[in-house]
Amino acid sequence: MPRKPPKTPETPKPPAAATTEGSRIGGRVKRYAKVSTTMAGLGARLAGQKFLGIEIDRDQHARQLMQSLGDLKGPLLKVAQLLATIPNALPPEYASELQKLQNQAPPMGWPFVRRRMAAELGPSWEKNFTVFEQTAAAAASLGQVHRATLPDGLRVACKLQYPDMASAVEADLNQLGLIMSTFEAYDRAIDTREIRREIADRLHEELDYTLEAKRQRLYGDILKDEPGVRVPAIVDGLSTARLLTSEWREGRPILGFVDAPQDVRDAIALNMFRAWYVPLYGYGIIHGDPHPGNYSVDADYGINLLDFGCVRVFPPSFIGGVIMLYRALQKNDTDMAIAAYDKWGFKGLTRETVEVLNLWARFLYGPVLDDSRRSIGDLPEKAVYGEDIATKVHQALRANGGVTIPREFVFMDRAALGLGSVFLRLQAKVNWYRLFNELIADFDEEALQQRQSAALQKFAL
Ligand SMILES: Nc1ncnc2c1ncn2[C@@H]1O[C@H](COP(=O)(O)OP(=O)(O)O)[C@@H](O)[C@H]1O
Ligand SMILES: [Mg+2]
Repeated sequence: MPRKPPKTPETPKPPAAATTEGSRIGGRVKRYAKVSTTMAGLGARLAGQKFLGIEIDRDQHARQLMQSLGDLKGPLLKVAQLLATIPNALPPEYASELQKLQNQAPPMGWPFVRRRMAAELGPSWEKNFTVFEQTAAAAASLGQVHRATLPDGLRVACKLQYPDMASAVEADLNQLGLIMSTFEAYDRAIDTREIRREIADRLHEELDYTLEAKRQRLYGDILKDEPGVRVPAIVDGLSTARLLTSEWREGRPILGFVDAPQDVRDAIALNMFRAWYVPLYGYGIIHGDPHPGNYSVDADYGINLLDFGCVRVFPPSFIGGVIMLYRALQKNDTDMAIAAYDKWGFKGLTRETVEVLNLWARFLYGPVLDDSRRSIGDLPEKAVYGEDIATKVHQALRANGGVTIPREFVFMDRAALGLGSVFLRLQAKVNWYRLFNELIADFDEEALQQRQSAALQKFAL
């Protein structure tokens, strides 16, 4: 329940508060510094051992990394979650250790929040709200979310960014680059430069809440005729580059539905499918972060879609390539598959590497290749969806000489894996083939191009 803040007048900042705030920021900076040194140290050791021809104990490295990361929060968490879904972009031991990281750093306290809000909305910012909860309702990767109520009664979420996040993102990206290139030198199955560029671009964008607000509006528009998907409306005038105010959507976590009746689980899965793939196949745009915190289930099993900090707009030809690859897999046509991968932007392909990539593609496209009502898989406990196949593909790619993965692959793959694992957990029984074919029935690259540019233009994107 919302709590009314005490209506005490703004008191001058006591020196003690300044010290607390100072040490909190100091703590964060120190944590980042620690990550940097750790990653650099590990990277150097990895390189050194390779030079000396020593068999590397990656488990041990991963554990050391984990120990020193401790309670990190922020951009690196996001990167870790992302990397863990790209087949062997990082040593799997690292990825799984990074995935265990929790957002544990202390939140900004009320005096700090008040000053940050004043910096965003002006000294009388509190007049915009009848209620502003002093304690954060949720942690965000670059800030925290407070619940509040507007004078007209609308309940809102205020996502407020921490200060100095730009430099934190920069520091993390540098370390990420170092560790990835070191690993690559040791294990040349894939060239990760494009992946790094993609992640860097998206993370930089994530700092800009004005951009996020535009994308959230775009999504609201694209999905306005989808009865099962809700996008919170942005509150004009209360959003800035570092503060995003949008309609509060009350919902339940999707994993709370794993024991619900079959028809409920199927309905949720269908709405999730529409939320992700209507924008993709209609507009070439994808929500790049299917993390469980970024959506919730409404009372009628609709999906509240949140967090538009990581949105990828694809070139229409890439979507054409995605559909071409689907047709190639349907027909078992290797030449067509080669043409499709080329359209995706893969470099350095041979017939052998195409065979290997098809292993991965058949896994990803599996559910939409089979015209029957089925569950995505039969092992709900399977720890990491697709891990076995990822390892197999990685080994085969290494044996065949490296391949450059196009940057567009990152978020396509992430969405497919993220949704796939949700469908798996829900044990939803759906005819995925029919759902997918309905979506792509009228696909036309030219038409998508026009829809996409009209939509982007409409929201000044
Ligand atoms: N409009 C909203 N309604 C309800 N909860 C929200 C809303 N926006 C954000 N949240 C909560 O805040 C958390 C962090 O917000 P999010 O936009 O995902 O930040 P980040 O981009 O840093 O992950 C979400 O996981 C969710 O729990
Ligand atoms: Mg989020």
